[in-house]
Amino acid sequence: MSLYFTDEHNMLREMVRQYAQTELAPLSIEMDKEHRMFPEVLERLKELNLLGIMVDEQYGGVGADMLSYAIVMEEISKVCASTGVVISVHNSLACGGLSAFGSEAQKQKYLTACAAGEMLGGFCLTEPGSGSDASNMSTTAEPQGDHYVLNGSKCFVTMGQEASLFLVAARSDRNKGVKGISVFLVEPSMEGFILGQAEDKMGMRGCSTHEIIFRNCKVPKENLLGSEGDGFKIFMKLLDSGRVGIAAQALGIAAGALEASVKYAKERQQFGKPIASFQAVQWILADMHTKVEAARHLVHNAARLKDAGQDYSLASAMAKVFAAETAMWVTTKAVQVHGGYGYTRGYLVERYMRDAKVTEIYEGTSEIQRLVIANRILG
Ligand code: CAA
Repeated sequence: MSLYFTDEHNMLREMVRQYAQTELAPLSIEMDKEHRMFPEVLERLKELNLLGIMVDEQYGGVGADMLSYAIVMEEISKVCASTGVVISVHNSLACGGLSAFGSEAQKQKYLTACAAGEMLGGFCLTEPGSGSDASNMSTTAEPQGDHYVLNGSKCFVTMGQEASLFLVAARSDRNKGVKGISVFLVEPSMEGFILGQAEDKMGMRGCSTHEIIFRNCKVPKENLLGSEGDGFKIFMKLLDSGRVGIAAQALGIAAGALEASVKYAKERQQFGKPIASFQAVQWILADMHTKVEAARHLVHNAARLKDAGQDYSLASAMAKVFAAETAMWVTTKAVQVHGGYGYTRGYLVERYMRDAKVTEIYEGTSEIQRLVIANRILG
């Protein structure tokens, strides 16, 4: 409970917590084992209106604020971080991009379908040769008649197999550097769209991650998002918002690992008493709790700045780097508190630890967040 939560925030938290802890929890274990997202989970996200959280009501969304979205991300990721990243990419990157930069026709066609959960959004920025150096992309988009023709490949695309609409960054003018990048709305049914290989990942195994190849992929001109040449800025702005979602996901993972550790420490007996009675364990739990609370404040601060219409780029980078590193630290300690059992699949903390790692990598590594922060404070 937070002092600034409204009744709506509290009700939303209860609703999502109830779903996550009763329905999603058992499925999350199976999804991790099978390395795929179950369609029934996507169906429930749709029924619970979690696929259009911040979309305006006029396009069929909930019209909720970013703090609500952060609450959803934390509660879902506490139980299943894979489901968290699907919600994040769809809501902040895909729906966020259409809401902020889409034409009215694009909103009517795609945003309404995304908000209703009839389409699932994906985001294609990273390439084999351009990760942190995102603007150095090779994928091209050549205008030809009433189409653009895309050539190149993107990697690490969350839900590449299941998503039905991708925001794709490509170089529409090779001579203009960063200002030659544009964003295109691409459907898998478009000619020349090829689903590449799936990644076999350490964590986040409850959702798919694919390579996507564009071979003379024909994208109608009306599927240009925003103006030609504005693509890099559009993606950077979307990542400001996306990073709040990933920070909230990392917070959820850390909070889940903390909860599991407190419970275990009270139950596990050694030397004739619960290990929670030993100061060595108490201090670990105290540090875990403090870091989780600090991460929560940074996440909520970034979300509330966005809700207030203020610049939140710096706050988002700080929330992302701090929450991600907290998740990694807390989950590692959670495994330690669980001892040998923590290292087995019989307890959830080993999954939390595997899932936490990528929050330090995707949507901008911790090093890139520090670069963004340093650039902002140094001017
Ligand atoms: N908002 C608006 N504009 C921005 C911006 C922002 N947050 N950040 C940069 N820009 C603008 C700059 O102002 C500049 O515009 P002008 O030329 O008009 O001044 C332009 O963009 C270029 O900026 P830079 O010179 O700073 O660009 P750069 O090439 O040096 O890159 C970077 C900056 C921060 C390193 C950036 O490349 C970056 O964020 N890299 C990380 C990429 C990343 O996060 N990838 C995530 C992949 S998606 C993913 O992981 C999704 C998933 O599946 C979970």
